[in-house]
Formats: sequence, structure tokens, C-alpha cells
Amino acid sequence: MEVSKRKRREEEPEMASNSVSNQAQAQIKVAAICGSLRRASRNSGLIHCAIEICKESIPGMKIDFIDIEPLPFVNVDLEKNGTYPPVVEAFRQKILEADCVLFASPEYNYSVSAPLKNAIDWASRPPNVWADKAAAIVSAAGGSGGQRSQYHIRQIGVFLDLHFINKPELFIAAKPPQTIFDNDGNVIDPDVKERLKSVLLSLQAFTLRLDRK
Ligand SMILES: Cc1cc2nc3c(=O)[nH]c(=O)nc-3n(C[C@H](O)[C@H](O)[C@H](O)COP(=O)(O)O)c2cc1C
Repeated sequence: MEVSKRKRREEEPEMASNSVSNQAQAQIKVAAICGSLRRASRNSGLIHCAIEICKESIPGMKIDFIDIEPLPFVNVDLEKNGTYPPVVEAFRQKILEADCVLFASPEYNYSVSAPLKNAIDWASRPPNVWADKAAAIVSAAGGSGGQRSQYHIRQIGVFLDLHFINKPELFIAAKPPQTIFDNDGNVIDPDVKERLKSVLLSLQAFTLRLDRK
């Protein structure tokens, strides 16, 4: 979906509901970003689980897991005549092409992890490729479940012009004994899978409302 295809809400009042029933055939591209670089990351496990859920039971929605590990630290000295290093250009292009964004965020010291903030900052450089996209956040973290990191992402998203779904929220406290993830970070709890599916359906409905597919 291209931003230019968007129509103003008042032009299509009959499509104002949350329902995706008439719109499920539209293909929504989701850019999924994980704030943890750990091999057995539970947050990357959430994204892998979301990819499977889409394949199995959410027609019209496809998730692309975007690796942020190769990105250099943000440094405007790396910008040459309005262009970015190739790895940054490739990352920015993937965000630009996506219809919406799924963040999977650990919480580091009451906030967003450094790798995630770095990725967010690169894509915010002009032109800001986050602008006007729908987004959702899920988190697996320590005792808090990542609430503070999620609300910091929402705060950052104000300036980026991201539009977050409000409900449902998904915070997962990754404390032992661990019954939600296996040792490789894969989601093994059926209830969490259902709750993750609800987040994805909400993101799908909101993206369709925003983009008028
Ligand atoms: C540097 C650092 C700071 C952390 N700070 C917090 C924190 O403030 N709150 C919290 O709930 N967990 C905190 N944690 C725990 C991580 O959020 C938790 O281990 C999470 O599962 C990591 O995600 P991952 O499994 O995707 O790597 C911290 C971990 C690290 C490495």
C-alpha cells in the first residue's frame, strides 16, 4: 500500500467500522522490529510467533522480520549529500514499503533498548519514513513486562507521527519459572498466542481504517 493511495476518511464513510470482513483481501505488509539482539530473545520469539499466526489464520497480513543488528550507531557524519550508508538505506526502504509496524521491545533500565532506539533514529532522518504508519507494540521483559519501554516508544512515536493501536496491550513478564517461552525464546503458551493474535487483528483493522484499503 502506498501512502499516496490513502483517501480522506470523509470520502468513504461506509468503511468507518473496525471490521476487516470486507477488506481482508487487501495485503498488509508489516515491518517487525525486535529491540533485543540476543540469539534466544523472547521478543524475537514473539515476532516469529506472530509470523506463524499470520500465515495460519490472518489472511491478508504478512510480517517481514527486519534485522536491525547490522545498523551502525547513528552518526550524521555518515550521511553524505542526503544519502545514508547502504545498510541504513536498505533498512529505511523496508520501513517505507511497510504499511504498518510491529515493535517487540524488551525493557532496558526503564526504557527502550539502545539497538531499538538506534533503528528508530535512523529511520527518522529526513525524510522520516515512519510518518503516518499504524503501529503496535508487544514486549517481553523482566518483572514489569516492559510497560515503561512501551510507553516510551509511544512517546517517541508522537514526534515520528506513528499511530499506535491502544488496545489490546500485551506485556509479558519473563520471570522464572518459565512456562511462556522455551529456552530458545519460542512462545509455547497458547494463551499468549491468542493474545498476540488479538494484537495483530487490531493492528490489521487499524491499518485498514487508516489507509482505507
Ligand atoms: C541492560 C538491561 C537492562 C534491563 N532493564 C530492565 C528493566 O528496566 N525492566 C525490566 O523489566 N527488565 C529489564 N531487563 C530485563 C530484560 O528486559 C529481559 O531480560 C528481556 O527478556 C530481554 O528480552 P529478550 O529475551 O528479547 O532478550 C534488562 C536487561 C538488560 C540486559
